[in-house]
Amino acid sequence: KIRQSLVAGNWKMNGSAALVADFNEKLKTVQCDANIVVCSPSTLFHHFSADAFSLGAQNVSHLDNGAHTGELSLEMIKDAGCSYAIVGHSERREDQQESNDLVASKAKKCVEAGVTPIICVGESLEIREAGNVEQFVGEQLDALTSTLSVEELSKSVIAYEPIWAIGTGKTATPEQAQEVHEFIRGYFNKVDADLALKLPILYGGSVKPDNAQTLFSQKDVDGGLIGGASLKAEDFISICQAAN
Ligand code: G3H
Repeated sequence: KIRQSLVAGNWKMNGSAALVADFNEKLKTVQCDANIVVCSPSTLFHHFSADAFSLGAQNVSHLDNGAHTGELSLEMIKDAGCSYAIVGHSERREDQQESNDLVASKAKKCVEAGVTPIICVGESLEIREAGNVEQFVGEQLDALTSTLSVEELSKSVIAYEPIWAIGTGKTATPEQAQEVHEFIRGYFNKVDADLALKLPILYGGSVKPDNAQTLFSQKDVDGGLIGGASLKAEDFISICQAAN
């Protein structure tokens, strides 16, 4: 297959050392075709010991080490074992007013440091109902293509997360997901055909064990970014196994 599938769990502001211990144990022997990433809160990074999956941060600074209270640099998250970082999650775009340009500079900084950015894009319900999905997501992608080179983009992962489907139990239908994934791949195809062919595009938004397989079987869906269902090892494992 052209693209390696990937399933990333985003624990958000949840989790404990006990949950990490459970994951270390239960994911140790997991068999699946997808690469697995767990993005835990940074306070838990040092508790992970598993070889079966990679570790990711939920955010990272676009700045180097220095006087930036409360921030974590790429150097720090790498030192703590992370090889991935989520950037531009809609919750941070909203809660911390992260702009398209800031998200793009974080993504670039990740690639420069050898960390794979999982770059989130996606529209609100209001934008969808107004028929402006492609325009809105297109602008989020414009910031990426004007900041990252084709080579840098080829070391990135995109996650399409419709905001209305996040934590709401309201999953996008496989057709709705595929439609936007196809738009995103088509967008990158205009930048570079090889990049478009190889770029992993994940779907996120109320993915559960019982809907994962139909979502992941869509042509342009290469795996998922999982919130709530990534907090239970059994559910997360079955979602990982639904990717092929
Ligand atoms: O990063 C993950 C997404 O925000 C999806 O969250 O699976 O809880 O809807 P959810």
